[in-house]
Amino acid sequence: MIRSTLKKYRFSLLFISLTSLCTSTLAQNPVREIGNIKSVKVTGQEIGITTDNGYANIILYSPSIIRVRIDKKQLQNDQSYAVIATPEKIKNAVTNNATEIIIQTDSLKAVVQKKPFSIAFFTNDGRVINEDEKGLTTSWVGNEATTYKHMQEAERFIGLGEKTGNLDRKGNGYTNWNTDVYGYRTDADPIYSTIPFYIGIHHGLNYGIFLDNTFQSDFNFGASNDRFSSFGARDGEMNYYFIYHSTVRDIIRSYTQLTGRMKLPPLWSLGYQQNRYSYYPDTEVLRIAQTLREKKIPADGITLDIHYMDKYQLFTWDKERFPNPLQMTTKLKDMGFKTTVIVDPGIKIVPGAPAFERGLKADAYIRYVDGKYYSGQVWPGWCYFTDFTSAKGRDFWKKEVKFFPDNGVTGIWNDMNEIATWGQKMPNNVLFDFEGKKGSHLQAHNVYGALMARTSYEGIRAAMPDERPFILTRSGYAGMQRYTAIWTGDNRSEDDHMLLGVRLLNSLGLSGVPFTGMDIGGFTGNPTAGLYARWIQAGAFFPYFRNHTTYNSKASEPWSYGEEVTEIAKNYIGLRYKLLPYLYSTFYEATQNGMPVVRSLAIDNTFDNVVYEPAFQNQFLFGQSILVAPVESTKEMTKVYLPTGTWYDLYTDKKQTGGDEKLTELKLKQLPVYVKESAIIPMQNLIQTTAETPGDTLKIHIYNGSMQNSFVYYEDDGKSFAYEQDNFYKRTIHFDPLTKAISFDKASGKLASKFKQLLIILHGFTGAENFSSNGTSLVSTATKTFMIEDEKKFAPTSELKISNNADAFSIKY
Ligand code: NOJ
Repeated sequence: MIRSTLKKYRFSLLFISLTSLCTSTLAQNPVREIGNIKSVKVTGQEIGITTDNGYANIILYSPSIIRVRIDKKQLQNDQSYAVIATPEKIKNAVTNNATEIIIQTDSLKAVVQKKPFSIAFFTNDGRVINEDEKGLTTSWVGNEATTYKHMQEAERFIGLGEKTGNLDRKGNGYTNWNTDVYGYRTDADPIYSTIPFYIGIHHGLNYGIFLDNTFQSDFNFGASNDRFSSFGARDGEMNYYFIYHSTVRDIIRSYTQLTGRMKLPPLWSLGYQQNRYSYYPDTEVLRIAQTLREKKIPADGITLDIHYMDKYQLFTWDKERFPNPLQMTTKLKDMGFKTTVIVDPGIKIVPGAPAFERGLKADAYIRYVDGKYYSGQVWPGWCYFTDFTSAKGRDFWKKEVKFFPDNGVTGIWNDMNEIATWGQKMPNNVLFDFEGKKGSHLQAHNVYGALMARTSYEGIRAAMPDERPFILTRSGYAGMQRYTAIWTGDNRSEDDHMLLGVRLLNSLGLSGVPFTGMDIGGFTGNPTAGLYARWIQAGAFFPYFRNHTTYNSKASEPWSYGEEVTEIAKNYIGLRYKLLPYLYSTFYEATQNGMPVVRSLAIDNTFDNVVYEPAFQNQFLFGQSILVAPVESTKEMTKVYLPTGTWYDLYTDKKQTGGDEKLTELKLKQLPVYVKESAIIPMQNLIQTTAETPGDTLKIHIYNGSMQNSFVYYEDDGKSFAYEQDNFYKRTIHFDPLTKAISFDKASGKLASKFKQLLIILHGFTGAENFSSNGTSLVSTATKTFMIEDEKKFAPTSELKISNNADAFSIKY
């Protein structure tokens, strides 16, 4: 009896302590860990996993891309606005044993530990590429799922799109929440766009991680901790793609295979674009265009900011300022200018206004959860906003933007699409359609801008089926490169901002977006003449070459800073136009493999520590072979870092041995620019607009060197989509120091080149070479032309003339 009472007593004590243990752990542990794996199901290239506290799917996309999805609930069919690739059929082996699941592809091995669930990625020779941090792996705090990765020794992190800070993001944390940040600080975060993709680098290895989740996301690269790097989002799935290749170049290729690549831009959009907030009335717009022509400053675009509208009402013109828009755009066109106009997402609430009413009728606008329209205030006052996550919203917008081509407008500049509203606090209970699945503002916010740009693209494409649309956006999300260029918003007229801008472009380039630009001269404030000169020099090498400034600031046209600066601007804009064959071919490369136009030195020199040093992190390669070192206006001397190899000074052809810092004396009229040995740089005559024909000679600059090199020269009509039916002219040019040959492959494509003649301009040859083509000797003549028009000390080059024969041929030396 006593015994049984004692037993009961012990039992109830045990019960009490167990339950209190359980309730106390529940009460004390707001972090829900993923826990141990309970079951595994392998179906083809997909592994379904159930754990104590969640579900995971591991999907093999390619031998180098593995997707990891984790959720608290069973994983549903998903939808992405960023990813367009589907898994490719690959050779792989999955072994499932008591303690782990081993996934083997031709490129990597992934090992999933079962107790608890954690993933590590290895090279096929067993080196750790990336692994979950033991003890932390993946967990939730509330609905926020985060994955923690072990911080490898000396690990670096690059990319993450339009993020301020250093090239190497180690030691910092970042938030993605697209934000309108007027005159932002050089360390502001977040700013306008979200690309949750970064590249990790350590021990001679590199990998990419793309978190495809549109909720607010946070990345930590060792900020406030020395243990892990992490990424997570406030809600939704943990949904990331792991990419492994031995080069950063290939990681970008795979990332852009997932999220898509840009299409060829219209050639005019690579010319110089003159902006201001705002040019009006029409006579002023024409005066600006006329002055550019009179001063012989090449240009292709004029942009109209919000004052072209009737009281900022979208899809209208101010009738007094612009009484006949079509007549104005036609005049501009006749002068070789294309017109771009700004559009904001907010449509002014004006009962009876045709576009506004059509939006109501089409059920295009976003609403609160109770069905009432959401209204927010922007330039025009109270507005409704199109829901770009709904087919109805998109169809409405696509029809409306036809208004612009009908008025002779060619480019669409999507602004304020974070969404920016006065108050900057859009309510979270606003609902978005999300293709019928419904999502709150929290889910839609980061992708809204990219979808607006996409819809503008599709609208213009439908309205002008034979012309390539030019679309620019301020806000964006991963994958935006398929439709739009992006610029870095309201920067300041300061040296630091110019350099920050370069890092933003470099980082966007690392993150799949090749078509990028910034407000040259700075948006807020007034630059000094020196800063303006330095900025426009660097700008000649930006993918999107736009000058812009705010309302009431000093004029920012190239002639606004005195004669010396006008000459500098003219020279560098001219250089840009001469480099168009090289630039256009570089854009073609971006369409093929995602390689950016401005390339952080970390792409080709990933394991060279010097390229990450703050003094050198702003340098970039413009295309394959031109190294640009932007400099602050205040400097008289600067240090430039040339990576290993031989480099030529652009202006003097003086050879420099790389792998070293060079102390360089600065002249205002020259930005430090160097050309890589073995470079192949096709150029053309100076033109004032891309509407002009550049003569019949393609000038191919060849720089002698010890490396083999090849360059894909690409040409088409620069306007239409005819290239999709093989209407292009493409040929690969090789430089081979071993066989001492410059050779041209047979041209491919249905188009004949617009250049009848080739002029081979030789740099760094001794002058003693005998040049011959197919056994016939070629006479080289000395030349005194080079890239910068007014350069007095001409480079010692020589040149060969040869007719442009589409068959393969080679020049021996
Ligand atoms: C904000 C944009 O960032 C800026 O470029 C533009 O000039 C103003 N909005 C006015 O439209």
